[in-house]
Amino acid sequence: MTHAPDDLGIRIRGLTKTYDGGDPARPALESVDLDVGPRRFVSLIGPSGCGKSTLLRVIAGLEDHDTGEVSLFGSSPRALCAAKGVGLVPQTPALLPWQTVRRNIGLPRRVNRRAGTGGEDPDELLRAVGLSDVAHRYPHELSGGQRQRVAIARAFGLGPRLLLMDEPFSALDEFTREALRLQLLGLWQRRATTVVFVTHSVREAVTLSDEVVVMSARPGRVHEVVRVDLPRPRDAAVVTGPHMHAMEDRVRASLQSAWETGAAPDDLVTL
Ligand SMILES: Nc1ncnc2c1ncn2[C@@H]1O[C@H](COP(=O)(O)OP(=O)(O)O)[C@@H](O)[C@H]1O
Ligand SMILES: [Mg+2]
Repeated sequence: MTHAPDDLGIRIRGLTKTYDGGDPARPALESVDLDVGPRRFVSLIGPSGCGKSTLLRVIAGLEDHDTGEVSLFGSSPRALCAAKGVGLVPQTPALLPWQTVRRNIGLPRRVNRRAGTGGEDPDELLRAVGLSDVAHRYPHELSGGQRQRVAIARAFGLGPRLLLMDEPFSALDEFTREALRLQLLGLWQRRATTVVFVTHSVREAVTLSDEVVVMSARPGRVHEVVRVDLPRPRDAAVVTGPHMHAMEDRVRASLQSAWETGAAPDDLVTL
């Protein structure tokens, strides 16, 4: 069956990556196969050092790989990146310290305007992440959670087809994280963005995702893809319901079996 270009998402086949100077017998990623459908929300979860950030950087076109294929909506990572089709949100938000929240969020629009393309209204984005009241503050005047909301709103403002998020909430307290997850889902649901989200939190992965990709360490591989069949929107009733707990247990069991079948992850190797 042939697909229209719009049906294509992320397609990764036989991806292997060894860092320069790394042990060729233990690549950072080995034989990774992964499919992410367009407009899906997918999380990567696994122990430290299993290659989650490496996989994200390869998808972003920031890192070369040794063998295998990576296709993003039928393009190469570099081509999609050059067309401003990929956004990346790191753990620590990289905001412009000398510009206000509003100007930080409006940055993609100013860049796009110069390029003759569109861009989202910064005031709409501010409202969507509940930051209208602090629009005129500078990044150093914000809490960690507020800074990350600015970074996320700005990333959506670019209108990327693909948004890659590397543990964006891991420095925040659980209460703030819960609130940000729902805001993130709100932003995603109204847009045509495919999201790949790295997290250490089983609850976070299940709350957000259509599929949770469980990875095993050393070498980094996809152990299992767990489908999250919870309804959307993932409102309070859904995320506190019994089915949610069953899904969390299902992902925990998969992590446990990845642990048992894989070699010891990085943070245990030195013990
Ligand atoms: N720039 C690098 N140079 C050499 N080795 C690296 C580099 N970045 C990561 N690694 C190694 O690759 C493996 C995967 O790392 P990483 O992708 O950061 O894992 P994760 O994000 O899952 O914690 C680890 O063994 C790590 O030590
Ligand atoms: Mg990482």
